[in-house]
Parts: sequence; structure tokens; C-alpha cells
Amino acid sequence: MSSSLALPVTDPALEARLRERLAVVEKALYGHVQSRFPYVTEAASHLLDAGGKRFRPLLVLLAAEAGEHPAAEEVVTAACVVEVTHLGSLYHDDVMDEAALRRGADSANARWDNHVAILTGDFLFARSSELTATLGADAVRIQAETFTRLVEGQIMETVAPGPDEDPLAHYLEVVAGKTGSLIATSARYGARFGGASREVEEALTAYGEIVGGAFQLSDDILDIASESEESGKVAGTDLREGVPTLPVLMARASTDPADARLLELLDADLADDALHAEALELLRRHPAMDQARAYVVARAEQAKAQLDVLPPGPVRSALESFADIVAVRSA
Ligand code: IPE
Ligand code: IPE
Ligand code: MG
Ligand code: MG
Repeated sequence: MSSSLALPVTDPALEARLRERLAVVEKALYGHVQSRFPYVTEAASHLLDAGGKRFRPLLVLLAAEAGEHPAAEEVVTAACVVEVTHLGSLYHDDVMDEAALRRGADSANARWDNHVAILTGDFLFARSSELTATLGADAVRIQAETFTRLVEGQIMETVAPGPDEDPLAHYLEVVAGKTGSLIATSARYGARFGGASREVEEALTAYGEIVGGAFQLSDDILDIASESEESGKVAGTDLREGVPTLPVLMARASTDPADARLLELLDADLADDALHAEALELLRRHPAMDQARAYVVARAEQAKAQLDVLPPGPVRSALESFADIVAVRSA
């Protein structure tokens, strides 16, 4: 993993503290994916080795800075809990999405097979639960509730909205569950184990929930807009899997006759390579892309508004930049 923070922190002292603690988290993560069976260790460390932004642990560490003891050992443990949970969800997600590439490496389902990928995901979830148990009963409950929402979101993504349901509302609910939940918990754990007040913990959780939703919306935009070299994933996977995301939902609302071909393709089976490439190309040039980006920027503004409880200063500024970065990220 690169040593640069996925965040422009302008305060050098804060940056140094975060960097130092992230290095501690990074080392600890390798310990948490060890099994007494070398085969299991190899499978479980495969995607950890491959890289990743460590976005969730960074948010734990940053949110902890809003408390009185941000260097507490429990903060590092909580950062590991959220990353190991996230890691497990990636193993499962690539099976669902039949994705061959993850973090620039072969996905576990491609490198081994679906059985190995699913069971390794289970192993990682079990490991994150063991770790959460060291943080006490409340942390276990929060982790379990988070995981419930994450899994519900993943399941509901595979189900089309009901005839009376608004597709955008369905999509946003899926996004909140599958991604908002764990990012909200990252902020909550940071505040809680860093010793912040209850009021700050609630505000940062609300912030994390909105940032998490925005993070997934950005991911969905990048699924269309970015190339594999940048994202480390196969471009257009959502489109191929027939998962309607924000740009698709916005393009579908178009009544412009020039969009007839795109709308036709969006209803077609895009497992066909030529049709998939054509749809991707038309969508990339469509105004719905900028419309979707503007929507995400507005979400980031809503997230920042939750930070009013914090005093102005480097921590609040870094959390504000964190929300901004999520909205305009390119990888
Ligand atoms: C990917 O998460 C899955 C989503 C919820 C969008 P990340 O974009 O955080 O993936 P890594 O950890 O950096 O690989
Ligand atoms: C994944 O959503 C969400 C979780 C892993 C819970 P995506 O399917 O959009 O994530 P990527 O694009 O594969 O990373
Ligand atoms: Mg996926
Ligand atoms: Mg995606």
C-alpha cells in the first residue's frame, strides 16, 4: 500500500499522527488475517496485500481526533475491525458481481474459485467479530447491526424495486445499507473510542452515514467513468451486471430523442461485449454523468453541515476535506 494519506491534511502535526497510527493499523491488519492453516492465511491476505485505500480505518483515526484520547489502543483495534469487515465484504461482493479484478489483482474468485472466496469472506467476518469482542458488548452490538444493514443492502441490490417503488429511492436505500452503514460505524467507533462526547459521536455518525452514501455514489460514477488502471477493477461492471446506478437512473429519465439508443441498450442484456462497450461509451458522454456528480457534491455539503458541533480547527477541516474528496475522487 502507498504511504500517502488518501486525504490532504493541511495541519502537519495532525498528518504525522494519522500517518503514524495508520502504520500501526496496517501492521496489525496482517496479524488479524493469519490462520493456523497457511492456505487460509494465503487466501485471506491476498486482497490485503493487493492494496486498497484504507479509507475506513483512516476515518476511524480522524474521528477519534475529535475526542480526548485519540491515541487509545481501542481506536486502532476499531480501525482494524472496520477494515477487516470491509475486506470480507469485498470477497463476497466479487462473487456476486462475477468480478475478476480487485485492487489491481485477481479477485479471490478468479484466483481460486467461488467457494474459496465465500469462505474466506466468512473467515474475515468471523475474525472481525473476534476482534470486536475485545471492545465490549456495545461495540459487538453496533458491529452486528452494521453487518445486518450491509448484508441487507447487498441482497436488496439483487432485487428490482417494486412496481410502486421509486427506483431512485430503492437505489439510495441499497447504497445506505451496503456502504453507508460501515462508514457511519467507522466514524462512530472513532468518536466513541477516542473519547468524544455523546453529542459529537452522534454528529459524526450522521456525517459518516452521508459520506458513506456519497462514497458509494462516487464509486458508481467511477465504475462508468474510470479505466481499470485507475480503479483496479473492471470498468462497467455495474452496467454488465444490470445494476442501475445513479448515472443510469438519471439517464433513464431523459425524454431527449437523441437518447433513444442509450435507453434501448440500458434495457438490453449487456453481457454482450459489443453492446456493453457501446452503452458504456454513450453513458460516459451523457449529461447524466455531470448531473450525478453534482448530486454527490451536494451530499458532501450535507455531510459537512453535520460538523457544526465541532470547534473550528485542523480536525474539523480535515473531516470537511474528507467529505470533499469523497465527492470528487478519481480512484
Ligand atoms: C469498494 O470500497 C467497495 C465500495 C463500498 C464502494 P473501497 O473503494 O473503499 O475499496 P478499497 O478498500 O479502496 O479497495
Ligand atoms: C460493493 O459495491 C459494496 C460492498 C462491498 C459492501 P460495489 O459492487 O459497487 O463495489 P465495487 O465497485 O465492486 O468495489
Ligand atoms: Mg462489486
Ligand atoms: Mg462499484
